[in-house]
Formats: sequence, structure tokens, C-alpha cells
Amino acid sequence: MQTAKPYRESRSAKYPESVHIIIVKDGKGRYNPMSASWVMFTSIEPAMIAISVGFERYTYELIEKQGEFVISIPSETMAREVDCFGSNSGRDLDKLKELGTATEPAAVIDNVLLSDASANYECRVTASLKTGDHMIFAAEIVASHINAEAIQRLFVLGSKQYGGVKFDQD
Ligand SMILES: Cc1cc2nc3c(=O)[nH]c(=O)nc-3n(C[C@H](O)[C@H](O)[C@H](O)COP(=O)(O)O)c2cc1C
Repeated sequence: MQTAKPYRESRSAKYPESVHIIIVKDGKGRYNPMSASWVMFTSIEPAMIAISVGFERYTYELIEKQGEFVISIPSETMAREVDCFGSNSGRDLDKLKELGTATEPAAVIDNVLLSDASANYECRVTASLKTGDHMIFAAEIVASHINAEAIQRLFVLGSKQYGGVKFDQD
């Protein structure tokens, strides 16, 4: 039996939910990370992915300007990063510097990869679609990287609760 609930209250039924970190370069030369759950692969050949970003986010402003970003899959050790990157804006804080998060240069685009993440995807925007208060950006994955050491990726289990889930590397 189902009970009617407003959308805002029923959204928690979707947990556990995957979480990602979207990184975009800003005009000050900083790489700004933002936590994001609303992400999905959309094509195998060419490799494509879509993300949904709120209009008020600094990340939205930056993607509109840069047209490219990295999507990082946080490993189980990165709950602190997801929390900080999802509750502070890069307009006010250099988030990577604040936590001392390890990075390394991306291979194709002007960006960084998160060294301890389970995987990192370098992406170039190909299309966008306004959906209510968010913009969906579709992007081609131009390079992908995987961390053989970090085999547990992070999931959001509930409000501010995070846990690792093992994935199959075959
Ligand atoms: C677990 C989690 C998932 C989130 N998912 C999204 C998302 O998919 N899209 C979005 O626009 N904001 C999402 N947010 C909110 C942004 O991460 C948050 O507003 C962030 O502070 C924006 O940073 P920015 O202003 O530097 O872009 C999420 C936050 C958390 C904690």
C-alpha cells in the first residue's frame, strides 16, 4: 500500500544513492569540486555521461564558461570530501586546498584528477537541457582513469551518512 507524500519528503526513498565529484576550473585558476548524485552514463559508443547542476551553483556558472569538467568517483575514504564539497561553494572557499585533497593533472583537458578516487572521467560538454531549477549537461568522456587500489566506491546511505560499496573490476 502506498501513502501520498510531497516530493521533497519522498526523495529519501532513493537512498542508497551514488555520489560523484564534479571538478571545473574557475577564472582564478582554481579547480572547484562539487558533490553530485544526479549523474548517469548515457552512451557506450561514443562514451557519454550526463549531470544535473542547479542554476545557483558556482559549478553551473563555470561549466557554462569552460564547457568541460572532470567527474570523479569518490572512494570509501572520501566521505569528508563529499561532505565539504557538497556544503560549501567555491565562490567562498578553495575547497581542494581547505582539505589538502591529493590531485594529479588530467591527461586531455585542463583540469585535475582526484588521486584517491576510484575513477576519474574527463568530459567535454556536447549539449544542455534546462529541467526546472537544474541544467542537464550531456558530455563526451574523452579520457577515463581507474584506481586499482581504491576498490570501494562511496555511496550516500542517508542524509549525511556515507558508506563504501565494492565494485567488480573485471
Ligand atoms: C551527497 C550530495 C549530492 C549532491 N548532488 C547534487 C547534484 O547532483 N546536483 C547539484 O546541483 N547539487 C548537488 N549537491 C549540492 C552541491 O554539491 C552544493 O550545493 C555545493 O555546495 C555547490 O558547490 P559550488 O557552489 O562550488 O558549485 C549535492 C550535495 C551533496 C552533499
